[in-house]
Amino acid sequence: MFLTREEEGMLAGQEGRATQKAMQILVALGKIYDAEKLVKVSSVQVSGVSYKNLGDAGLEFLNELAEDGKARVKSTLNPAGMSLTDWKAQGIQSGFAEKQLQVIDAYRRLGLEISCTCTPYLAGNEPSFGQHIAWGESSAVAYANSVIGARTNREGGPSALAASLTGKTPLYGLHLKENRVPTHIVDVDASLGSSEDFAAMGYFTGKVVKDGIPYFRGVKKANLEELKALSAALASSGGIAMFHIAGLTPESDQMVGKTESVTFTLTDLRETGALLNDEGTPDFVSIGCPHCSLTELATVARLLKGKKVKREFWVCCSREVKRQSDEAGYSKAIEASGAKFATDTCMVVAPVEELGYRVVATNSAKACHYLRNAGLRVKFMPMEECVAEATRTH
Ligand code: F3S
Repeated sequence: MFLTREEEGMLAGQEGRATQKAMQILVALGKIYDAEKLVKVSSVQVSGVSYKNLGDAGLEFLNELAEDGKARVKSTLNPAGMSLTDWKAQGIQSGFAEKQLQVIDAYRRLGLEISCTCTPYLAGNEPSFGQHIAWGESSAVAYANSVIGARTNREGGPSALAASLTGKTPLYGLHLKENRVPTHIVDVDASLGSSEDFAAMGYFTGKVVKDGIPYFRGVKKANLEELKALSAALASSGGIAMFHIAGLTPESDQMVGKTESVTFTLTDLRETGALLNDEGTPDFVSIGCPHCSLTELATVARLLKGKKVKREFWVCCSREVKRQSDEAGYSKAIEASGAKFATDTCMVVAPVEELGYRVVATNSAKACHYLRNAGLRVKFMPMEECVAEATRTH
């Protein structure tokens, strides 16, 4: 792989040990994927922030890098395993909290923004069409590639951090136009009326298309929240990092190559919803996977107005969107009901299973997928029903 003189210098350790380590990671990755060279990135989103996933080995790795490493481009963080300020109210044990705060401190010393959200594009990390970026959060990767038209592979925690410390990433995969063409046509023969419908379609498609690139036909319109839900679901049941929607997403007019064809019907929509429902009565309700937009918070505030929640109800969003919600007056209505904002974290990366909950109601197909893998039972339902479930007396 070709390296510039500056990159050779980084690899030789001329710019410190952390930069050298980062360059070693990128060069190894570039060799595996046959990248011709490295390319500059305009932003980075680092996943692998929750201590639940990192453990002590991950914390040690970060502390080593933080000795002399510094982010060279705008770099934001995925959610942590708890709210950084209100973790006690969430029931988090102090041993876990202490480790999680050490992880955050290492990232802070590395110069990353402590944004702790999986929707960085709603919180100040907004790439433009055609820009190369290195993002690690799978739902945000699918959103950035497909809806924004930025270019990123699905980075792991170490490779995203390496991109942050060098400002570079290997030029392969979805950074190259020829790899962004669809592999499957998905004919949508069902009318989609909500984010949950888009999530169900994404969950179905991910299972069929696996890590290919679906090209949806027959979707007449889609708003930000629906595209966010679709991105997350595609990336959870499958490994999809990019999709196109005919007439809606910015690269959907590109040539459709040799593709397989699938149809998504009303029956598939219903069956996928049913597939994400287990037995049991929910004892925990959560929305905001991926993190809520301001529009979603406005809806929750309206639905909760004048009501009291009867069970634990987490509304997950970024600090930035929570701040906007405070200003708009939505937070008051939400908190007055007894619902809790879960900023900096979410129901999946927080150790919810250790908090004693067994059955989670949520409007996120992605959350259902991962919570079930963690041993919890799940109920997939629209946001209105989540609020009804949270406020119902059983
Ligand atoms: Fe975000 Fe957590 Fe879902 S990180 S996409 S809210 S699993």
